[in-house]
Amino acid sequence: MTHEVRRIVPHAAEGVADADTVTWARAMLAAFLRPRVPPGDLARAAADYVGQRLRGVYETGDPAPVATLRSWDTRMSVPGGEVAVDAVTSIGVRSTHRRRGLLRAVLVDDLADAARAGTPVAALTSTQGALYERFGFGLASWNRALRLDTRTATFRAPEATGRLRTLDVATLPSAAGPVQDRARRRHPGSMDRTGMSWTALMTGENTFSGMTADPHRHAVLWSDATGRPDGYVVYRVAQDWAGGAGEIAVLDLQATTPESYRELWRHLVSLDLVGAVIWNDASTDEPLPWLLTDPRAAAAGAGREMLWLRILDVPAAFGARRYPVTEQLVLAVADPAGHAAGTWLLDTTDPVEPRVVTTTAEPDVALDAATLGSLYLGGADPRVLARAGRLEERTPGAAGRLARLLAAPSVPWNGIRF
Ligand SMILES: CC(C)(COP(=O)(O)OP(=O)(O)OC[C@H]1O[C@@H](n2cnc3c(N)ncnc32)[C@H](O)[C@@H]1OP(=O)(O)O)[C@@H](O)C(=O)NCCC(=O)NCCS
Repeated sequence: MTHEVRRIVPHAAEGVADADTVTWARAMLAAFLRPRVPPGDLARAAADYVGQRLRGVYETGDPAPVATLRSWDTRMSVPGGEVAVDAVTSIGVRSTHRRRGLLRAVLVDDLADAARAGTPVAALTSTQGALYERFGFGLASWNRALRLDTRTATFRAPEATGRLRTLDVATLPSAAGPVQDRARRRHPGSMDRTGMSWTALMTGENTFSGMTADPHRHAVLWSDATGRPDGYVVYRVAQDWAGGAGEIAVLDLQATTPESYRELWRHLVSLDLVGAVIWNDASTDEPLPWLLTDPRAAAAGAGREMLWLRILDVPAAFGARRYPVTEQLVLAVADPAGHAAGTWLLDTTDPVEPRVVTTTAEPDVALDAATLGSLYLGGADPRVLARAGRLEERTPGAAGRLARLLAAPSVPWNGIRF
């Protein structure tokens, strides 16, 4: 049987996707063992793929792909700026066709295309931990679950001056979009929400859940004393109050000021009929415990891996971020796929225009492309990676210098699984 990787450009007419796109979507959902979405719903949902890239591996005579991948161009915050990213998702292989190299075929094709287009970084989140390192992706950010006991939580600071307003969830993109855009710049690793991801947040409808709407959603916006919206929280009722105290699950919380962060949490604590608030995709450095008279009211769970990054263009990726110290370090990067391979001088003598160029100088550190991806946002410590044997320190003390050079103003965080 012959197969070929084919690219599909999704089209839609009157909100309904074309047949190839719908067939692709159905094959992708089957690979992920998702419930069957009614055809009309799937055709409407797949219309959101317009503007994105679909790839499939096709066998002769079969209109449905045996492997799928979807990607789109977006922007990701990095320390001191942002970088263009190839966001990759929906990698699925038909259950009868696994372990024949089809994931490899479709991903290598996408990465080559992104590199040709000049996109410096590819990003994905993964269902499994052992899949993507072989393709040069390194684990670069983590999320952490938080659980707040609202019966024991009290705030140290008095209420701020401003206004809380409940929002119709249908208005979230317009009412909360500008806040999200400002808030995401504060955390390396954060990205824009796609239209599809706003829809999922507003209604709960997504292809993975079979397009079943979730009617339990609420949203609240905080505006400061001048009326400027500074933060929002979207939450759902995770456990009904009828059996005792209810439980609220935060779906998204974005705040651009300390006051908005605090007042949104105060609102969640103030909800009647609720005993606990959980947030599964909080960052690893949430200020919440520091706001409370008893920090134990907020319990943090274990970190969970989130973003995997693949550096496709070293000068463009490392030239897009800013650095807290002036330094000159030489990095030898091994990358069998070629994208990041080379010996690179990272020179931040000019803090506004870091220089990243190839060099023949002796390397201070040697590492592979996946490790480079882990280091990019400042979320992984080169000294720890050296202790793990993932980074070789050729000049004594170089891992420490690299740690100071790559340090970020806040931990990387991406609260939107994709
Ligand atoms: C995970 C999945 C995409 C793998 O597809 P596949 O076509 O079998 O993968 P390939 O044959 O191209 O394998 C590529 C490499 O990954 C390895 N690999 C594949 N699946 C793996 C797994 N679950 N765990 C560890 N390694 C795996 C293969 O051994 C191969 O290794 P090699 O490079 O050393 O030869 C497929 O099993 C699937 O669709 N799973 C369900 C959906 C899913 O979880 N998708 C991932 C979304 S992030």
